[in-house]
Amino acid sequence: MGAETTSASVRNLTGGGVEAGDVALKKAGFDLRMERMFMKLDWTPPGPLTPVPLGTDVITFDPSTYAVNVVDEIIPFPGGLSTPISPAIPLPVATYDTGWYNLGVRPTADDLGLGATDIFGPWSWTQFFQASSPGLFQVPGNGLGCTGAGNATFPNTLLNAQGFPLLSGALTATEATDVAGTFKVPGLRNVELNGPYFHNGGKSTLAQVVEFYDSGGDFGPATNATKAPAILPLMLSGDQSKSLVAFLLALTDDRVRLQQAPFDHPQLFVPNGDSPAGTDNLVEIPAVGTSGSTTPVQRFLNLNPLAL
Ligand code: HEM
Repeated sequence: MGAETTSASVRNLTGGGVEAGDVALKKAGFDLRMERMFMKLDWTPPGPLTPVPLGTDVITFDPSTYAVNVVDEIIPFPGGLSTPISPAIPLPVATYDTGWYNLGVRPTADDLGLGATDIFGPWSWTQFFQASSPGLFQVPGNGLGCTGAGNATFPNTLLNAQGFPLLSGALTATEATDVAGTFKVPGLRNVELNGPYFHNGGKSTLAQVVEFYDSGGDFGPATNATKAPAILPLMLSGDQSKSLVAFLLALTDDRVRLQQAPFDHPQLFVPNGDSPAGTDNLVEIPAVGTSGSTTPVQRFLNLNPLAL
């Protein structure tokens, strides 16, 4: 997702986007703050799949029901028919706010995240626009990868009648959304110094975060119906997990660690509880100055980032 290390960036949401085709969608009036995607959380093959050389499987697609049928292209004898390897796989579709995902950090019911509502209405763009003015918004959609379909702007993608990826089109008031229990993807620069991690501070070290992803999240579809399909067990080796932590540590800028310009800060007063009279207790954090501090910013509880 580019140098920002998050898809929830200004460039991606209100600029030209970061993926191939985003510029064409934006020019045509699509609102990049939302995405409509195929969702499939729990497909398991109906039996052993015949190994075939790379590129010889084909996917047939039935747009009237949004279903795919995977076909084994190896033809058993000259003139023989391709063998469907599974019954049609239904593909549910949902629209959500770009850059916000349900990872299974907690059961969705514990904290609705962006799926919450207050007196001003739904917090998510998708549900807010659904409630206020659905037809006004055009949602960029997923296209279902398909070799040979698509055009130069959207290569290898099934297109709709307007030439945009299949699911692109006006937001409707009643379509399924995928915003319950979603949280914003944070930028990962200097993440070494941001612990404890996730919206609830539930992980103390980066190794614990990597272990979380490796196990496909802490909570599954039973409690998190709109969990992101990408959060699946990764089967990482010990070395791969350590390499991922090392990569995350490499995102620290030493000027941030030492609070040097341009990452110094002025004198700050932080409210810390209140007095019996009801006034805030203010804690002073002194200015550091442009040359920064000689004491580096510490990791959460000074923990080793590789500790599990
Ligand atoms: C193995 C690959 C990944 C790594 C190493 C990684 C790393 C991280 C880290 C370190 C954080 C915590 C940041 C903080 O609290 O300051 C985080 C949060 C987050 N990441 Fe990832 N990430 C990965 C894959 C993904 C994927 C595939 C998605 C989207 C489907 C995603 C979405 C998010 C979201 C939504 C949060 C915030 C969750 C919350 O606050 O509850 N990440 N990630």
